[in-house]
Amino acid sequence: MNGSSSERTYGAVARTLHWLVVVLLAAQFYVGWTMPHIRKTTPQEGLVEVHMSLGALLLFVVVARLVWRIMRPTPLITTMKPWERMVARGTHDLLYLLLLLIPFLGWAAAGYFGYSPHLFGMTVLPAIANGDAEWAHTSGDVHGFLTWVLLGAAGLHVAGALYHYFILHDRIMQRMLPGV
Ligand code: HEM
Ligand code: HEM
Repeated sequence: MNGSSSERTYGAVARTLHWLVVVLLAAQFYVGWTMPHIRKTTPQEGLVEVHMSLGALLLFVVVARLVWRIMRPTPLITTMKPWERMVARGTHDLLYLLLLLIPFLGWAAAGYFGYSPHLFGMTVLPAIANGDAEWAHTSGDVHGFLTWVLLGAAGLHVAGALYHYFILHDRIMQRMLPGV
């Protein structure tokens, strides 16, 4: 299997990383919404522990994905109208930005709540804020708020993909589907 991205389609590596992020994100939202509401007295165990590990894994996968994208960029298809390209590029950039910013803010908030986040018990992430850092408390609130912005941007992105597939009948969706 060729792992590179051509003019017409995303390569196997880019597709795998795209769908891996989608699956990890779905799991992360589920855990984020079902874990206990976090206060300074909430122990680092159960779903709280899973949330931080999954978030650290997401951050790792997103950075790997961005590195791969820099090495093997896949341009948008040239038949898109200028406004479509603008919306598509803007949405992709916003999604990448949020996928980096949200875990960093969560990581800072973890320091404020006195947690030592791990990557599933393997590496301990160094603290980027301590328990007195008020800004890190605020970053926990911004973390929660930005998850809604991420949901909105992802909703727009998915609507765009479905519009191309069901209404325009072009090959844009197929560029990201496995094995097409
Ligand atoms: C893309 C990755 C992530 C997503 C989508 C996500 C999502 C969420 C969601 C939905 C909540 C609940 C917000 C609320 O109830 O208001 C939350 C809270 C929280 N998350 Fe994340 N999270 C991510 C990554 C991380 C990481 C990497 C860490 C730490 C290493 C982390 C630490 C926290 C903490 C400490 C809270 C509680 C914040 C507070 O209540 O002030 N998250 N997250
Ligand atoms: C059912 C859900 C989804 C579908 C059907 C879908 C579909 C697609 C398609 C077809 C492309 C290629 C667009 C093109 O060729 O111009 C793409 C790219 C992309 N998708 Fe998704 N996507 C989904 C969910 C998500 C989610 C949840 C995220 C992140 C939060 C995401 C982030 C991205 C990004 C950043 C790109 C740009 C890739 C690049 O050029 O580096 N997608 N998606």
